[in-house]
Amino acid sequence: MSKRNRGARSLADLIRERRTIRQFRSDPVPPEELQEILQTAIWAPFHNQKEPWRFILVYGNGRQRVIKLALQAYSHLPEAGLKALEQYLQTIPVYLFVIMEESNQRRQWEDDLCATSALIHNIQLLAWEKEIGMVWKTYDDEVIQPIKAELGIREQEKVVGLLLIGYFDQVPRAKERTPLNEILTIWND
Ligand SMILES: Cc1cc2nc3c(=O)[nH]c(=O)nc-3n(C[C@H](O)[C@H](O)[C@H](O)COP(=O)(O)O)c2cc1C
Repeated sequence: MSKRNRGARSLADLIRERRTIRQFRSDPVPPEELQEILQTAIWAPFHNQKEPWRFILVYGNGRQRVIKLALQAYSHLPEAGLKALEQYLQTIPVYLFVIMEESNQRRQWEDDLCATSALIHNIQLLAWEKEIGMVWKTYDDEVIQPIKAELGIREQEKVVGLLLIGYFDQVPRAKERTPLNEILTIWND
């Protein structure tokens, strides 16, 4: 599917139709659009005294700093791989780091991760409504640790997602979902 229905869509349609987007058009996404998305997304539920999340929004020339750090993190790749990675990263209009304060208490840490994940999906759905796509990226510690330090993300903070964001032309085919009757147990007596 390359063209989607414009206009108002129900929440059910947004949830079903949203797809992870990995290939983006080169046109920039206005930062105001992203801030509007975040203004609503932060109404995600959370189970703490204070929301556990914060963000770093990177676009325009700011992207070069992130790209440089990412290339350093993958410097073990062969030269051709690094070149391809750099070319890909240059096509990404916006990088959004979603960062969570890490609690020392396991139960609180779990609740905070759940809440931050809910927030990220809010971001994905609200963006989809504006025909903005993204991929939610997660990274092994050895990749993200040096990047964290350079971006002023504290030891006690976790990057729950690096969202690569932009406008898109093509919507990938959906990964099938397991039919509900195979995963739903009902007890009614
Ligand atoms: C917690 C989480 C981490 C993910 N990490 C990555 C990632 O590192 N790289 C990637 O390409 N996609 C990543 N994804 C996207 C999934 O691959 C994608 O959601 C899945 O294939 C289902 O496709 P859909 O989002 O289009 O329904 C991640 C998704 C989630 C929820």
